[in-house]
Amino acid sequence: MVSYKTLGLVNTKKMFAKAVKGGYAIPAFNFNTMEQMQAIVQAAVETKSPVIMQVSKGARKYANPTILRYMAQGAVEYAKELGCKKPQIVLHLDHGDSFETCKSCIDSGFSSVMIDGSHLDFKENIKLTKKVVAYAHKHDVTVEAELGVLAGVEDEVSAAQSHYTKPEEVIEFATKTGCDSLAISIGTSHGAYKFTPEQCTRDKNGKLVPPPLAFDILKAIEKKLPGFPIVLHGSSSVPQDEVDTINKFGGKLPDAVGIPESQLRKAAKSAVCKINIDSDSRLAMTAAIRKYLAENPSHFDPRQYLTPARESMKKMYIHKIEKVLGSKGKL
Ligand code: G3H
Ligand code: 13P
Ligand code: ZN
Repeated sequence: MVSYKTLGLVNTKKMFAKAVKGGYAIPAFNFNTMEQMQAIVQAAVETKSPVIMQVSKGARKYANPTILRYMAQGAVEYAKELGCKKPQIVLHLDHGDSFETCKSCIDSGFSSVMIDGSHLDFKENIKLTKKVVAYAHKHDVTVEAELGVLAGVEDEVSAAQSHYTKPEEVIEFATKTGCDSLAISIGTSHGAYKFTPEQCTRDKNGKLVPPPLAFDILKAIEKKLPGFPIVLHGSSSVPQDEVDTINKFGGKLPDAVGIPESQLRKAAKSAVCKINIDSDSRLAMTAAIRKYLAENPSHFDPRQYLTPARESMKKMYIHKIEKVLGSKGKL
């Protein structure tokens, strides 16, 4: 058993309470590679922001669970080395799919886990979540649960259709499970294609304009659970300039569209205190690599193309922290 406390990590309890009160959200960035980890830490230190580094089942398969855990421990030491005396870094399991996966993460140093029972029926979701909460709380690890289903397809997270969270279910769910935060479905979805062109309108330049999030549902949930930490998954904005760069340098991402930042800014001011971003990091990295390799066809040292990729991700993370989530200076 390795406690996250010995690794210098923190759970989400205090940071969420502070964020809900302060009207901002904590960034939850997914990571799979060393460059992503470095960029996340540099951005968090430079902006003096708390940060959640999260690992999906796909990331664990890709990079190896042990390596990712030591990378998170390394992240804490790296933050200190960069001048942050008391970093607030959470290592979080994203979309945990079973009690066993959550337990294995808790036992190996995670400070927060998500149990995603959103595909189960209401009673089964409560049962599974409650079991994870009981084990996690014994170790002072916080638990995110999910009610409602997000649409979207990624490696390990998929659902054809979304089902908005039903506000009338949230009190019973939160009370019976004892979860520390709740991921809800109000129209966001995973990946770089959050809406079909048919669901969008077009602006005068022909660019897709997505439909607004269901803020009425968010409001109704906040009314039922005042001050309770709410989480938004699928919150990448899919920046058009990154998509254009990818397409310009040989990529093919037609009609990729995300959540407008104005919508996320509004959400961050509410009880939404954790905003998940993965796709924007993938886009920033891929755009920089494609551009670099196209412009430097004779280069083949990965450090050459991963350096601008890391810089671009860092810039994106800083932008989110400062201009979208509002967590700058909240350490
Ligand atoms: O919510 C899903 C995250 O973006 C992780 O995606 O399963 O492809 O690692 P992944
Ligand atoms: P995006 O695909 O919008 O980045 O969402 C990531 C996410 O929700 C991770 O759990
Ligand atoms: Zn997610």
